[in-house]
Amino acid sequence: MRVALASDHGGFEQKQALVAALVREGYEVTDLGPFDDASVDYPDYAVLVARAVANGSADRGVLVCGTGIGMAIAANKIAGIRAATVCSPEFAALARAHNDANVLALSGRFVDFEANRKIAELFLETPFAEGRHARRVAKIEELDGGETRQTANGEE
Ligand code: RB5
Repeated sequence: MRVALASDHGGFEQKQALVAALVREGYEVTDLGPFDDASVDYPDYAVLVARAVANGSADRGVLVCGTGIGMAIAANKIAGIRAATVCSPEFAALARAHNDANVLALSGRFVDFEANRKIAELFLETPFAEGRHARRVAKIEELDGGETRQTANGEE
């Protein structure tokens, strides 16, 4: 599975550790930055991961900021993105099973690394439950406002 990650300064340290952990676990990881802990604006990095997932060059995205909230708000502006801020393993599994979330937004300041690592693993490994949830997710997709969803090779 191809996973794109990014953070701001509030999530930088955990993003670095998560990149290393996911590489060790065999994921195909793309680190979209930043590459030092200087202060940056989280929307600039959220959009990089959101676009990678929306255009099909990554299967899932993981974002880390101070709370995970700003990253999710920004990522959800991109058509095709269902980003969820997650602070517990249970929510990680439910964000996948019920919402087919494709971007995970983590808190680097309020959740410790071991908890976030477990949350990320569950997020990456839990399948979408389909069934009634597919109808609901289709209704979310309709809210994308007619913007065309593109795959990596440019197809609709
Ligand atoms: C940066 O100080 C902080 O606002 C950011 O990391 C994040 O928590 C925003 O939602």
